[in-house]
Order: sequence, then structure tokens, then C-alpha cells
Amino acid sequence: MITTADRLEGIHEYYFSQKLREIDALNQQGKDILNLGIGSPDLPPHPDVIRVLQEESAKSTVHAYQGYKGSPVLRNAIRDWYARWYGVTLNSDSEILPLIGSKEGIMHLCMTYLNPGDRVLVPNPGYPTYRSAVTLAGGQCVDYTLSAGTDWEPDFDALEQLDPASIKMMWVNYTHMPTGQLPSIALFDRLVAFGKKHGILICHDNPYSFILNKQPLSLLQAEGAMETAVELNSLSKSHNMAGWRVGMLCGAKQRIDEVLRFKSNMDSGMFLPLQLAAATALGLGPDWFNELNKIYAERREHVFALLEALGCEFSREQSGLFAWARIPAGYKDGFALSDEVLHHACVFLTPGGIFGSAGEQYVRVSLCGSIEKFREAARRIQNSRK
Ligand SMILES: Cc1ncc(COP(=O)(O)O)c(C=O)c1O
Repeated sequence: MITTADRLEGIHEYYFSQKLREIDALNQQGKDILNLGIGSPDLPPHPDVIRVLQEESAKSTVHAYQGYKGSPVLRNAIRDWYARWYGVTLNSDSEILPLIGSKEGIMHLCMTYLNPGDRVLVPNPGYPTYRSAVTLAGGQCVDYTLSAGTDWEPDFDALEQLDPASIKMMWVNYTHMPTGQLPSIALFDRLVAFGKKHGILICHDNPYSFILNKQPLSLLQAEGAMETAVELNSLSKSHNMAGWRVGMLCGAKQRIDEVLRFKSNMDSGMFLPLQLAAATALGLGPDWFNELNKIYAERREHVFALLEALGCEFSREQSGLFAWARIPAGYKDGFALSDEVLHHACVFLTPGGIFGSAGEQYVRVSLCGSIEKFREAARRIQNSRK
């Protein structure tokens, strides 16, 4: 009999993978579901980025395996990007590791640092991959609860009660997904101090800092961050390149070398033209982000109108690629509201409970859709409630 490894125990098919099957089945019955669930940018990358990929891939010399640490061109572009936008100085030879998307970095960090039973702080609500990567690596998740009452920031007094001396790693993500909470330098300073005090590796996941946010921040801006923290970043959302799979890990040389020991056994580098095109994307100026954010800001107004039609409550100060909203009284949880809207209005919203128990009274709406799509969704929702 063929059996799966014990490490898969407690690991289930990703919620969206399951839900998309249900949506497909409804579509096959002729329902035409509007999917407002998934945060995959629908807009294209900058034309210069596409051009570099096309031109470079037409060359005969670019198709070999690439170095495990990425092309110097890409590493230098990442160094310059961190200096320009975050004011963080990195050594491009030793403190930067290009990744095939930041998601793989989450797994690499867990596999590099966790032994069976090691305790890891994960945000609730938070990106579900932190939990599954920790579990797959044999670690034990210790939730830290975030709430609207504390602006979705960790409660450091509560963290001190969780036996921090026994914690090996902490996952942190600001701009926070799914709540859209922005960070502050004061928060990053506290996280670095907490990591240093207890010898915890603070893993900051930072893919949303450029979306609907005038002042992108990096945790590596905090004094002493390199002693206790690493940061993942990504071109998926900031440059409309989710399908290209380009991300990065930044941190102290020793951390980068340790992760490379694991990662170099997993893949054999990235296609060079793709790295060169990614370097071009990283060199784009403020116009790129201004244009992108103008589009998202307009879309978000339509999403807010849709959420108002549902009777949800939400903050207008959110950032990132989603709108996060508290469901109205009368629904057991966000799953109930999402199911009702799916079956009565043919619109799919993500129930907040998939991000952890502290998200159960919420729903999340993606801004990755046209204005027409949001208008149509609002119209369907209004009609279904008459
Ligand atoms: C919080 C968070 N981290 C990481 C990722 C993965 O990004 P990437 O495309 O760089 O792997 C996502 C994607 O949705 C995300 O929401």
C-alpha cells in the first residue's frame, strides 16, 4: 500500500484550490460566478519588462543553468531597490538571495531552521502558508492573535506570556494580509527588540508594501534588524509579476548562506532572461507605482460600495491588495456570508476564517478585477437582497 509521509498529517488541500473546483462546477451549471477572492494581479507588467524578456530569451547564450545565488544583475537591482525605496543598505554579494517567489522562501526558512517540535509564532489571522510550512518542516505553530482593537499589531505583553524563551522563529507580515494594516518603524523596532531579547529569528514577509501605500517600509530599517531578522519580498504584487515567480530573501550573510545550503539542493537557479527582466522592473520609477495605485484606489472605492451594500463595517485606512471587512450581525461567520453571496448573487468573497479563527467574523475582497466587474458584483448583490 502507498501511504503519504507523516509530515503531511494536518496538511490539507489549499482552500482556494478546493473552492475553485466548486466555482468551476457552478460555472458549468451556467452560473457565471464573479470571483473576487484571489489576489493575483490582473494588470500586465511594464512594457519594458516584457521587452527585456523577449529580447533576452531570443539570444542563444541564455538557456543554460544559472548560478544558485542568482545573476549579479538581479542582485544589484535588488540592492538598489532596497536603497532607493526603503533606505536600507545591503551587500548584493552576501545579503541578498533571489527566490522563485517569496512563497518558496517561507518553506526554505522553515526547512533551514526548524527541528521537530520547535515552536514558531504565527499570526492569527495571517497568510495560511506560514502555518503549513512550519508544520511540514516539523515545527509547532503557536498562534499570536491580532485584533482590530490593537490595530492588528502583536500584543507584546501577551507574547511574553507564551514562553518566548522556547520560541525559535516568528512570522510577521506588514503591510498585513488579510487586514491591510500598515506597519510603523516603532512596531518594527519592538519586533527587533523582542527577537533580540529572546533569540528568536524574526521572519518578515513584505510583498504588499507598495500597494496603496505612499511610504513603503522594510523591517530591515529598524536598528539592529540584521542581527535577528530576515525579510522576504516579491515582485508579484508590486510589479504585476505573480506568474513570473520572482522574490527575494534579504538578511545577514550568515542567514543567506544557511538558507542557500537548503535551497541549492531544491532548485537550479532561475531563467536568466527572466532575472534580467525582473531587474528592469525593479528599476522603474515613481510613475509606475503612482499609475498602479491610482487604479487600485479607484477600484477600492467600488469594493467599499459593495461591502456597504452587504452591511459590512471596514476601515478606509487599509493598504495592500484587498479590502477587509467585518460582517454584519445575523451571520454566524464569514463562511455563512460568503456562501450566501455565492449562491444567491453568484459572487465569491473570501471568508476571513481561512486566515485563522481571529478572522472568522470577516470577509476579504480582492482588488484584482476591473471596475466593471466590481460594478456588476455590487448590482448582483443588491438585486439578490431585494
Ligand atoms: C502574505 C503573503 N506572502 C507571500 C505571498 C506569496 O507571494 P509570491 O508570489 O512572491 O510567492 C502572498 C501571496 O498571495 C501573500 O499574500
